Amino acid sequence: MIMKWRGWALATGVLAVSAMAQAAPPTAAMLSNACAGCHGTNGGSAGPTMPSLAGQSKEAIEVAMKKFKSGERPGTIMGRLAKGYSEAEVTAMAELFSKQKLHITTQTLDKAKIAKGASLQESNCGRCHIEDGKEGKDDTPAMASQWLPYMQMQMADYLSGKRKMPEKMKEKVDPMSKEDIEALLHFYASVK
Ligand code: HEC
Ligand code: HEC
Repeated sequence: MIMKWRGWALATGVLAVSAMAQAAPPTAAMLSNACAGCHGTNGGSAGPTMPSLAGQSKEAIEVAMKKFKSGERPGTIMGRLAKGYSEAEVTAMAELFSKQKLHITTQTLDKAKIAKGASLQESNCGRCHIEDGKEGKDDTPAMASQWLPYMQMQMADYLSGKRKMPEKMKEKVDPMSKEDIEALLHFYASVK
């Protein structure tokens, strides 16, 4: 008898949940709550190994999610996570993040490296990482005020070949010294 009741409760519980899901598809704000633990409540990263999403272009976020999903871009967490979202859901969230104001971080950075990076960035990276990295051309991610440790990890993945560098970016990065690249990342992290 008890078993019967329990079965009935379970069945109706499931029905109630699926009816709810049909009634209201989750909004972008609801969906992006699942990102807030790491990417912050307003797209401003919650910690130095995670990127801010606020102010990134819609295209940059969509392409990143596609590459995480397919496994083309390596990740500690995003590969598994990206698989849980449909293209339409990603687009809705990307639109929301792209409208948020760039997140400004305060980090301890090296002044000499910032100055050196500033002198190198326009001619080497500025074609795609435009406006001092506050914006990105097409699917280029914004880098202004992004955490230095996050950018260093991404650059290490590019240089080791784990993450595939865009051809035109590779042409610029390959001839550079380690020091030059480090200086550039300090520069981008410093932009407010
Ligand atoms: C548990 C922490 C965590 C959660 C939750 C999370 N992310 Fe991430 N995200 C990361 C980390 C860490 C990275 C860096 C890549 C990696 O290591 O996976 C990242 C990278 C990204 C990037 C690449 C940004 C860039 O500048 O290249 C995008 C886009 C992104 N996440 C979107 C999302 C979206 C959308 C959600 C919510 C549906 C989400 N993430 C939820 C931790 C998280
Ligand atoms: C021809 C355009 C182009 C040029 C030039 C370029 N980049 Fe990029 N950069 C991109 C694109 C596109 C991505 C994202 C590609 C991907 O999906 O991995 C990117 C990603 C990055 C990232 C990872 C950011 C993140 O949030 O995931 C770093 C760091 C970076 N670039 C540094 C540089 C530096 C430093 C230079 C100059 C030496 C440079 N790039 C030159 C187009 C460019």
